Amino acid sequence: MAKPSLVSGIQPSGRLHLGNYLGALKNFVELQNSDKYQCYFFIADLHSLTEPFDPKEKSKQILELAADYLAAGLDQKKSTIFLQSAIPSHSELARILENLAPMGELNRMTQFKEKSKTQPGNVNAGLFTYPTLMAADVLLYNAEFVPVGDDQDQHLELTRTLARKFNAKFGKTFIEPQPLHTSAPRVMSLGNPEKKMSKSQPATCLFLDDSPEEIKAKVMRAVTDSGSEVTYDEKRKPAVSNLLMMYASLTGEPTVKIEKKFADKNYSQFKTSLAETIANHFADYRKKKRELTTKSYVLKTILKSGSKKAAKIANKKITEVKEKIGIAI
Ligand code: ADP
Ligand code: TRP
Repeated sequence: MAKPSLVSGIQPSGRLHLGNYLGALKNFVELQNSDKYQCYFFIADLHSLTEPFDPKEKSKQILELAADYLAAGLDQKKSTIFLQSAIPSHSELARILENLAPMGELNRMTQFKEKSKTQPGNVNAGLFTYPTLMAADVLLYNAEFVPVGDDQDQHLELTRTLARKFNAKFGKTFIEPQPLHTSAPRVMSLGNPEKKMSKSQPATCLFLDDSPEEIKAKVMRAVTDSGSEVTYDEKRKPAVSNLLMMYASLTGEPTVKIEKKFADKNYSQFKTSLAETIANHFADYRKKKRELTTKSYVLKTILKSGSKKAAKIANKKITEVKEKIGIAI
């Protein structure tokens, strides 16, 4: 029997952080290695054009993300790794789905509202229709599952709505996909446990290729809660709980076990151990990323051959869609 498909992507817009890793990338690697799925992982370059960018930097960011994927453990022999813009069907299907997407629903998207605030001088139509392109990314590959952080749930809900509407109007064509979350679907900022960790706040964000010294400095400065015990309590100790969740996700140990380990220790001792755990966890990744970054030819070849493979599936689907809506003549 064919394995169920899953698809996910990340925007090439700078260095990845611990939120991207614990919420998404770590799961990509585990799902790939479980051998249970047909995996498609792509670089969402078209999505990244909705934010201000420098064309001289964009191709570097694309290759950097390809290096990130491989350094973290994605393997082109096990997964199809590709570049979104190399496959025109993504844009074509997005354009078709736009006709089923009510303006009102797009207007309610949290990410659209937030980005409209962070880039008030550039509230462009691409930002507004972002979720229809994301729906196309998923629906083209008959994906049953989409591993993402929980900030993407609203977009996936819309994806399911669009799939359902299309199927009802034009006949069964798409699968309604489900999100797959990790045990850390929302990693919070080191400076404010009410806010998502995000690269737009670099001082309170742990980048995967930060040096051990940078990691230590950022973790030691992280805000904590009143009291002094290292205990998991999202309501009363949101900051310490966030740090405990990082520790648990990286070591695979349950939080109760970590609480016991630090039962007679203070916040500072816990933070020192967390910083070491993070630095050690990414030592191999940092080394591999450094090596891969010098091999742009290898990265480009992997993306080209992955895109060729993905295009076969995507082109079949877009042909079916065109037939269903009556524009294939
Ligand atoms: P960013 O939000 O930093 O711009 P992206 O939007 O490119 O990052 O997100 C890439 C993936 O990482 C998505 O699956 C997203 O849900 C996940 N992600 C981003 N930030 C976090 C976070 N703080 N916690 C958990 N997952 C996150
Ligand atoms: N919207 C996702 C983000 O901001 C990136 C993305 C684009 C994506 N297309 C996708 C994720 C399709 C999963 C599936 O992080």
